[in-house]
Amino acid sequence: MDIFRIEGPVRLSGGVTVNGSKNASLPIMAATILAGGKSVLSAVPHLSDISVCSQLLSELGCKVTRNKNGDLCIDSTVIDNPVGDYEIVRRMRASICILGPLLARCGRAEVSMPGGCAIGYRPIDIHLRGLRELGAKIHIRNGYVIAEAKNGLTGKELFMGGPFGSTVLGTANVLMAATLAKGRTVIESAACEPEIADLANCLNKMGAKITGIGSPRLVIEGVKQLHPVEYEVIPDRIEAGTFMVAAAITAGQLQMHNCRLDDMMAVVDKLRSIGVTIEATDDGCVVARNGSIKPADITTQPYPGFPTDLQAQFMALLSLADGNSIIIEKIFPDRFMHVAELSRMAANLRKEGPTVLVAGVKKLIAAPVMASDLRASAALVLAGLAAEGTTTVNRVYHIDRGYERIEERLNPAGAKIIRESV
Ligand code: EPU
Repeated sequence: MDIFRIEGPVRLSGGVTVNGSKNASLPIMAATILAGGKSVLSAVPHLSDISVCSQLLSELGCKVTRNKNGDLCIDSTVIDNPVGDYEIVRRMRASICILGPLLARCGRAEVSMPGGCAIGYRPIDIHLRGLRELGAKIHIRNGYVIAEAKNGLTGKELFMGGPFGSTVLGTANVLMAATLAKGRTVIESAACEPEIADLANCLNKMGAKITGIGSPRLVIEGVKQLHPVEYEVIPDRIEAGTFMVAAAITAGQLQMHNCRLDDMMAVVDKLRSIGVTIEATDDGCVVARNGSIKPADITTQPYPGFPTDLQAQFMALLSLADGNSIIIEKIFPDRFMHVAELSRMAANLRKEGPTVLVAGVKKLIAAPVMASDLRASAALVLAGLAAEGTTTVNRVYHIDRGYERIEERLNPAGAKIIRESV
């Protein structure tokens, strides 16, 4: 198992290139199930979650390889085992997004129900409700979702809002299934996340007829078949946001390449109010902080609101603010595994239900800490860059799920992160 030893404090200065989006890549990989043949996806990052998804597709019957350019090639000519096994799904919840495309392509799918998750209870009731509305027969047996649509799916107008707003992968599942349904589907209260827009754009390139992309009302005219695709996924806005916080927390300056500010307005707005300057460039931006960190209030929301996937990283940043901040988590109310670990680094945090009061401190102090989930772990790395002393982050495999070799990308800009196998 790898650990990070992070020496701080440092001041970052240099450039960093943002990778393709993990959360766009995963449903787009699943979308290749919909069309027999060989699809080529570029800018898919080298992450453990991508490897797990590749393994999942291979077990269905697909052939998944990387070509010499690093593109991910998925040959889905044969799908002869429409089963998402528990052993894979338990390693990555996003595996559930094969359910919709498998059902549409094969008329049947068996996918393990995702189990517990470090960021809280994550039901899939809205995914199942949406697929049922399209005519699927669904039941749960031995921990598996068994879905059938022997005579195909039929388009329908459906509402997909839930107690926390829209659902990203629920929208992905129903959207993919609807592309091959008979007639027209309208998804009301669809997720508007850029990753869903990217999926919809990819599906249209495969021959789907989707309008309303990027809005909460997606309209899908079902088609008889889709064809394989060559597609480049969008840059990862969460990785970009994490690097922006790295510049901010170290009072440094980073030139970010391959970064789409248009996808990050809530994040950019918040960073500016905190005292961070962000100047747009041709392929990204320059992020810098000179003055103190101003306190801020943050409420996570579905897109275009502030993303839950950057909540932990901003908590690390605001721990060093000149005053008190409030962070309210409205997507995953229990997503606070990082609070106890940041407190071990001398952050002054008080959690009350889905709210954390962050009283700014003058400095963070290095400590051994435990990574618990992907974004919480990223927050610990960020805190380690700014903390006095050597921070040890255990269970780095959580970070490797979503950030490709983060140490090799931040060290050239002045970070001092050493990976060790223990
Ligand atoms: N929800 C339901 N019922 C459902 C589905 C969702 O009640 O059937 C609730 C969830 O419990 C949550 C809210 O709706 O309270 C939103 O969950 P959503 O379904 O949108 O989450 P997801 O699709 O499972 C994706 C990302 C997450 C990200 C969330 C929210 C991928 C692979 N995962 O998850 O990313 O936090 O959307 O934006 O796209 C990460 O990358 O670290 C990560 C966890």
